[in-house]
Amino acid sequence: MTLALSARAADFGALDTPLLVLALPSGSSIDGALEVLDRRLGGVLRRTLERRDFRGARDETLHLSSTGAGVERILLVGIGKSEDRAASLRRAGAIAARQTSKLGVRRLTFFAGALSETEAEAVTVGLIAGSWDFKELKTPPPAEDQRDPLEEAVILTTTPAAERGVATGRAIGEGHSLARRLGMLPGNVCTPDYLADTAREIGQRYGMTVTVLGRAEMERERMGSFLCVAQGTPQDPKLIVLEHRKGPANAKPIGLVGKGLCFDSGGISIKPAQGMEWMKFDMCGGAGVLGAMETIGRLNLPVNVVGLVGATTNMPSGTAVKPGDVVQASNGKYVEIINTDAEGRLVLADVLVYAARFKPAAVIDAATLTGACVIALGHTATGVMGNDDELVQEVLDAAKRAGEPGWPLPLWDDYKELIKSDVADVKNSGGRPAGTITAALFLKEFADGYPWVHLDIAGTAYTESDLGTVPRGPTGVPVGTFVEFVRGRTR
Ligand code: BES
Ligand code: MN
Ligand code: ZN
Repeated sequence: MTLALSARAADFGALDTPLLVLALPSGSSIDGALEVLDRRLGGVLRRTLERRDFRGARDETLHLSSTGAGVERILLVGIGKSEDRAASLRRAGAIAARQTSKLGVRRLTFFAGALSETEAEAVTVGLIAGSWDFKELKTPPPAEDQRDPLEEAVILTTTPAAERGVATGRAIGEGHSLARRLGMLPGNVCTPDYLADTAREIGQRYGMTVTVLGRAEMERERMGSFLCVAQGTPQDPKLIVLEHRKGPANAKPIGLVGKGLCFDSGGISIKPAQGMEWMKFDMCGGAGVLGAMETIGRLNLPVNVVGLVGATTNMPSGTAVKPGDVVQASNGKYVEIINTDAEGRLVLADVLVYAARFKPAAVIDAATLTGACVIALGHTATGVMGNDDELVQEVLDAAKRAGEPGWPLPLWDDYKELIKSDVADVKNSGGRPAGTITAALFLKEFADGYPWVHLDIAGTAYTESDLGTVPRGPTGVPVGTFVEFVRGRTR
C-alpha cells in the first residue's frame, strides 16, 4: 500500500492526531509554535527536555503517551546538529515512519518547524522509505495479531513552497519503493521477463517507448559479451530500453544504464554457498533505472532520457561460458573470460555500446559490480568513476543531494596493465588488486564516444543489516542519484 501524503499549515491549537512526530535538533527548547502545543499537553515537552530525557541526538527517539488534548502519542526524533538539514530530515522521516508502522498506528503528523521546498521533499522521501515493507510472499498473521499499517502522513509546514516539495518527494519515494520491491523479489519471480514487463508498464503509464531485445535480437547485434553470460540459462535474456522524450526534439538524451542480473551464481566460477542467496540483489542497478524512470515519468520532467537495463541470470551449466573462452563484443573487441563471476561487466559492455546509438549527452551506469567496492567503501558510499572529470563531479553532487553519497576512485591508465590479455584485447578480470577500478576500466573500453560515469553500488544498493532507516534488504540506491542528476540537467 502506498502512503497517502499531504502538507498542512501547523495549527497546534486544534491539532487532532493519533501520533505527532516532532523532529528536534540537539539542545532544542520549546518555543514558538510548540509553546501552544506544550500548553495544551500540560507542559510534557518542556519537562522532558528540561530533564534531558531526550537530547535530540541524531537517530535518538522517545515515545510519549500523551494525556489527550487531541494528540494521542508523541514521538520525538533527534536530528543532531548536522549542517545538512534536508539530509537529517530525510533520516528523521524514515525513522519516524518505521517506528509508527511498528506501533501499528495508521496516521502520523510530522512537524519540524518551517520547511523549505527541498526539506519538505526530503521529509516525504524519508517517510515513504520508512513506511516501505515487503509482505507479498508471507502469509498474513491471524487478524488478532495484525498491526494496522501506516496509511497516512500529514506534514505540518508553514511555507507554501513545501507543498511542491511533498509532490516531488512522493514521486521520488515511489521510484525508490518500486526499485526496492524489484530488489526484494526472488530470482524465480523477478526474471528478465518480469523486468521487461515492469518496463512496459512504466512505459504505458507515462507514454515512454519501450523496446526489448531478446536472445535472437542480441545475436543479430553481435552482442557476444552479453550473450556469453546468458548462454548458461534457458531464460531469455533481455536488453530493455525505455525512452522518455519530453525535452526539445533535438536535445541529446541522458542515458541511464543498469546491471540487471536477476541472479548471479558466479557461473562455472561458482560462488560459495554461504550467502549466495544475496545475489538475487544483483539486479539493483537495473531496478534503479526502472525506479528512476518511474519517478521521471511521474514528474513528467522536460528532458530526454533513455533507460537501459541488461537483464539475465548467471548460471553454471553444460552450455555455460568457461574460463579461457574468448568472446567478441558488439564493438568488435575480443574479451578473454578469466572468471565467469565477473559477468556484470560483460553484460554492461554491450549495453554501453548499444547506448552510443542514442548519441547521449551523458551516460551513467549503476551496477552491483564488485565485492572489492564493499571492501573499499563499505556500505556507506557508492564508488564513482568515469571518463570525464566534470561529469564525475556532477554525479557526485547529485548523489550527495539525494542522500546517496558517492566517493571517487582513480580511473588511471596505469591500472590497465592488470586487464591485459595474452590472447584477446582485454580480459574480464584483473584479480583482486584494485578490483573496483579494473572493473570500471573494462567498462571504459565500451563506453566510447560520450561522457560516462560508472556507479559501483555493490555496497550501497542493499544492506545485510538493519540500518535504522531501512531494514535488511534493498535501500533504493541509485534511484535518488539518477533522478537528482536528471533534475540537475533541467535546471
Ligand atoms: N555481483 C558480483 C559483485 C558483488 C559481490 C556484489 C558482493 C555485491 C556483493 C559480481 O558479479 C562479482 O561476482 N564480482 C566478482 C568479480 C571478480 C570475479 C573479478 C567479485 O567481486 O568477486
Ligand atoms: Mn558475479
Ligand atoms: Zn554479479
